Amino acid sequence: MGFDLNSPAAARRASRLAQHGWRRSRRPVGLPTRGKTACNRLRRVDVFLLLYDAHLLRREDGLFTGAWFVDLGYGAEPVTTLESAARFRRINPHLPVMGVEIDPLRVAAAQPFADERTEFRLGGFNLPLRRLQAGQSERVRAIRAFNVLRQYKEEDVEPAWSELASAALPGALLIEGTSDPSGSLWVANVLRRECSAPCWRPEALVFSTKLRTPFAPEAFQAVLPKNLIHRMQPGEMIYDFLEAWKHAAQVTAHERVWGERRRFVAAGQKVRAYGFCVDVRRRWLARGYLLLQAPFYKRRSDGGDA
Ligand SMILES: C[S@@+](CC[C@H](N)C(=O)[O-])C[C@H]1O[C@@H](n2cnc3c(N)ncnc32)[C@H](O)[C@@H]1O
Repeated sequence: MGFDLNSPAAARRASRLAQHGWRRSRRPVGLPTRGKTACNRLRRVDVFLLLYDAHLLRREDGLFTGAWFVDLGYGAEPVTTLESAARFRRINPHLPVMGVEIDPLRVAAAQPFADERTEFRLGGFNLPLRRLQAGQSERVRAIRAFNVLRQYKEEDVEPAWSELASAALPGALLIEGTSDPSGSLWVANVLRRECSAPCWRPEALVFSTKLRTPFAPEAFQAVLPKNLIHRMQPGEMIYDFLEAWKHAAQVTAHERVWGERRRFVAAGQKVRAYGFCVDVRRRWLARGYLLLQAPFYKRRSDGGDA
């Protein structure tokens, strides 16, 4: 996904960050950045999560009892955290929701909105989890980090992800991505915490559009997550995929007479026929979500008419 988790360079970066206190420190790990947010900016991320893994948000068995949904880096106002809490509690009224911010003033400003199931805490990529009785720590079922890593360097992505993995339950999800200011357009990594070790397994790369304006795959380039945005070069997975999707959109342009949605569906099906692992179920494409499933690379064996 843009970098090799096991490369010597990755080991060097992890070691450098360890020396600077990124690991094992209880100080919030990360840097305060601009706090721009907006009401309903992440509505389609919530809808996506509800469609993708409602069971994870609902489950209360074993270690998942009382496990948090974390909105990391909620911004100047806690609107996205409160909106997610309201949406997810339609399927799990007891779901605990934690907004985490590295800026203390933003944490203080959010306190009036806290209640018995909603908390706002000062923290960073090393999530501010408390010790429970019996020496155990609080648990996390899912983490959303939107428009947070875009303001970091590409080399910071991997240590941030692994810091988050150490806090997540086996089977937990991380959705980490970038959106435009209104949330009309976004791209996100969907990662699953491995059961056997505290690391993430990529499950999908999701492209989301409200389909209000004419759909163009190249528009997603501006909202690629940090691990991909500097990788738009021939031979990189993301470049090859966007080129293929652009081609698919051109050859399905005639579908536009039936509306932008029909064309989005047709282009998604076409790029799948080119051999990319696109989930072509209507539950995704007809709603303006294109899921590129891991492994992300083109499978030449079932390539069609590229
Ligand atoms: C651009 S805002 C995004 C707000 C919201 N997530 C959204 O998408 O509308 C990014 C926020 O992330 C916070 N932030 C940056 N690094 C962080 C970290 N390591 N831990 C927690 N918050 C962080 C910044 O302080 C800022 O308020």
